[in-house]
Amino acid sequence: MKVTSWGESLLKEGLEMEDRLVAFRRDLHRNPELSHQESRTAAKVLAAIEGLGLKIRTQVGGHGIVADLQGGSPGPLIALRADMDALPIAEETDLPFASEVPGVMHACGHDGHTAILLGAVSLLAARKEQLHGSVRFLFQGAEEINAGAKAMIEDGALEAVDEIYGLHNLPTLPAGQAATRYGSLMGSVDRFEIQLEGKGGHGAIPDQSIDPVVAASAIVMALQTAASREISPFDPVVVTVGSIHAGEANNVIPHRAELTGTVRTFSPDVQRQMKERLERLIVRISEGYRCKAKLNYIEQTPVLVNHDDPVRHVEDTVDALIGRERRIEAAPTMAGEDFSIYLQHVPGCFFWLGSGPPVGAEQAFGLHHPRFTLNEACLPLGAALLSAIAFRRLIGQNER
Ligand code: NI
Repeated sequence: MKVTSWGESLLKEGLEMEDRLVAFRRDLHRNPELSHQESRTAAKVLAAIEGLGLKIRTQVGGHGIVADLQGGSPGPLIALRADMDALPIAEETDLPFASEVPGVMHACGHDGHTAILLGAVSLLAARKEQLHGSVRFLFQGAEEINAGAKAMIEDGALEAVDEIYGLHNLPTLPAGQAATRYGSLMGSVDRFEIQLEGKGGHGAIPDQSIDPVVAASAIVMALQTAASREISPFDPVVVTVGSIHAGEANNVIPHRAELTGTVRTFSPDVQRQMKERLERLIVRISEGYRCKAKLNYIEQTPVLVNHDDPVRHVEDTVDALIGRERRIEAAPTMAGEDFSIYLQHVPGCFFWLGSGPPVGAEQAFGLHHPRFTLNEACLPLGAALLSAIAFRRLIGQNER
């Protein structure tokens, strides 16, 4: 493995702070906080970065923190982002530092992301005189409900930012590896809510009622054709109706029915067309069944589309730091991530950092699983990688 001098020192110093990063991550893991409630986590982050000479703004887009590290001379502003929130999941691991908050768990590893970014703050703060430009650290809340990035941007988090980078741990990839992808990496997330109004009545006298249950059933079936009959099979789309609520009794035709669902796409063009498709099917099928339909279609997260030049920069950095043999091409996923919203405003790259067990060990549990665990070996490496990405952007060409 060929490692440059800057790479060697980042890796070495990253490893030296492993115990501190692990302890920080475990403390967050034990005390997880749901989206929009990350006050303790934010206070811990603030305490950890105070005194390092950064310009710090708190309460950005909720409990978010924006911290600027000014380099030794002027130049571009590179943003690095971590998310901080946990999920409404009851933890089922037997870890000694398992969640002490009932029903709340860091099951997506955002505790690890926060620790990794803290490590990057330390590594870069120690090198600030070498930087021709500045680094902005974004500690973001409310990622799991697709609200944090948008709120941070509205609060000015991206002002003057030239490029942004972020990572997510991936338990199906062994720690010590990274995965990148040009173009679309993660799917869009839209939510829809349908209200159907019929006319309630006796279950034995259907002719005097308008049955929203039958209309709802027809809509569920028809919505599948929005994907299978209207979109090219080469464009992935998922339409899932996840809840149906109607009626209370077996012999009563209810007055109304409510359905909710999710739409995932992998191309911004397809995402743009989905609302019209669903609306047409829902409204016209309802009419056919004499029901009134109301659709509330909420676009939550756009497709995460990486920008070519930043991807190339991440790949070069990964190769220089840990070796080309430890980088793979990421498979696309329909899961969503609100980092995509930053990428609509400034160029950047989001990539996967392996957080799984070593090759050959038992398979890890996936993200959002109650038994999800994170191989903490990824923490110092993640810190070294993130800081290297900013560092290499802000030093002279020949030093890279
Ligand atoms: Ni996540």
